[in-house]
Amino acid sequence: MCGIVGYIGKDAIKDILVDGLRELEYRGYDSAGIAILEEDEIQSFKAIGKLKNLEEKTKDFSTHHFGLGIGHTRWATHGKPTELNAHPHLGEFSYVVHNGIIENYQELKKELQASGVHFLSQTDTEVIVHLFEKNYKEINDPMAAFEKTVETLEGAYAILLITKADPQKIYFAKNGSPMIVGNDAKGDIYFGSSDAALIGKATEVIYLADGDYGYTSADGIFLYHDKEKKGLNKKPLIGDKVSAQKNGHRFFMEKEIYEQSEVLGDTIMGRVLDDQIKFDELDANFFDGISEIKICACGTSYNSGLACSYLFERQAKIKSSVEIASEFRYKEPLMSKDTLFVVISQSGETADTLEALKMAKKAGLKTLAICNVDNSSIVRLSDYTLLTRAGIEKGVASTKAFATQVMVMWMLSLYIAQHKKTISEKALQDEIDAIRHIPTTVMVEDALHEKIKRLSKRYLHGHGFFFIGRDLFFPLALEGALKLKEISYLHAEGYPAGEMKHGPIALADSELFTIALMPKNVHYDKIKSNVEELSARDSTILAISPLAFDLADDFIKTQHDNHPMSEFFEMMVITQILALEISVRLGNDVDMPRNLAKSVTVE
Ligand code: AGP
Repeated sequence: MCGIVGYIGKDAIKDILVDGLRELEYRGYDSAGIAILEEDEIQSFKAIGKLKNLEEKTKDFSTHHFGLGIGHTRWATHGKPTELNAHPHLGEFSYVVHNGIIENYQELKKELQASGVHFLSQTDTEVIVHLFEKNYKEINDPMAAFEKTVETLEGAYAILLITKADPQKIYFAKNGSPMIVGNDAKGDIYFGSSDAALIGKATEVIYLADGDYGYTSADGIFLYHDKEKKGLNKKPLIGDKVSAQKNGHRFFMEKEIYEQSEVLGDTIMGRVLDDQIKFDELDANFFDGISEIKICACGTSYNSGLACSYLFERQAKIKSSVEIASEFRYKEPLMSKDTLFVVISQSGETADTLEALKMAKKAGLKTLAICNVDNSSIVRLSDYTLLTRAGIEKGVASTKAFATQVMVMWMLSLYIAQHKKTISEKALQDEIDAIRHIPTTVMVEDALHEKIKRLSKRYLHGHGFFFIGRDLFFPLALEGALKLKEISYLHAEGYPAGEMKHGPIALADSELFTIALMPKNVHYDKIKSNVEELSARDSTILAISPLAFDLADDFIKTQHDNHPMSEFFEMMVITQILALEISVRLGNDVDMPRNLAKSVTVE
């Protein structure tokens, strides 16, 4: 997710903006920029890479009078990380920074281009500043022009805009992406996309609500909602920066589990329309000549690929296989050019996955990356890329990256099914409805978290865990076991439920913990009988299901059982929190578990 800062006052504007952006570095970014308006003059500086590059560019620039400024750290969602795509974006006499995704940017861009506007960047953000200036030229009133601009935008946004047409004000709008505005005791104004950027500066803040917009000046904060003036619900700003970066959570991993609802909204944004799936990143003939999909990845990314291989076959009726990259590299694989080679990677730098990609490229296969980091090695090498838009993932144990990988590939399976006409309109509509409910499905309710925290005390010993599931819940069982292993250091296996009787059931006794994923919509009777076999041999069972199962020693009832994928995502959250709470009880470093690295860039 991008970072946004703003300031109005007499202090050193550049330093305040850059310091604020530094407090937002934890959100991850690949470029940064600022724009400062002082005495009717606007200056802007942008740099790709880390903030130090921006500091180098601005080292000889300083302000000495009252002024205002906006700043931005960009995590690429539309367009590569380049200076042209970095924010702030310039019109003729205005600058804008934006966090979120403007869903209707393409039609707005076409209209603006038809009226003679020339775009410099590939971003959705740039339409905002050109639309504002077009409206201003027609209305000749900055606030009315800004209001009309915001009314036209669809999607998620947190916007700051400065303009020579109104050089004493910063205009702001918030919908779907976080934005906070505050002031200090002397009346200086601060903006931030997280309160981490305001701690130590503002003394009281307003957490803007969706639909809020307005402007700030030396005279204060002027807030509107639905064209009506809105009161200022100011709160004192306290707390420390690190807890702010964790949004008040104990660990980054916990924050990232709770963020899944928001980032899945970003993943879906602009790709799921009322009656179809759309990927701007894929051209019309993307799938021509392809009769097979081969997925290749490591760790959690392998698990998401295995889960979605079921969907590619079921929805798109296309033969799919999944390979572990470190195995694929050395098995002397047979590859055919009618295969789409899909690599999945959160970091885009995993050595084994990167080398497997090189092998596929060398064999002449078409390649697609499902990745969270634009401009990474894997993205740069792949023919096509679908970004997962999860924002930076700091917890070594991957959570929101897994969730967004599954979401992207679920949408891709439907996109291919549309292309191959293997799905009816009704079935596609049902899938689209289910996709749109997922951000709600993965929201963590306090009662659920508390229940898992309580029952986790019973799973701190024993001679191991079996996470079992069927169909696409088998890869979810693998992922649940991996999460637990990574951060609790307890032994856990993910296993196909139907395979337990072929050996592993010999392990069953009261000290063997079985975490059973029992969805209502996917072979429930089969998984139920598998779990009954384990219960009969005294295995300690934690059943996760929408249907009551009285043979379980512990039972977590799921709520969203209207679609297999709703059950998948809800059970995903439960297994993530279970691993987290067991690790906490064992006193482990949840975010930085022993022996592990966030990105395995070596063999
Ligand atoms: C997942 O929790 C682990 N951190 C690890 O298995 C990871 O998924 C694997 O190393 C692949 O990383 P990538 O997605 O960045 O390629």
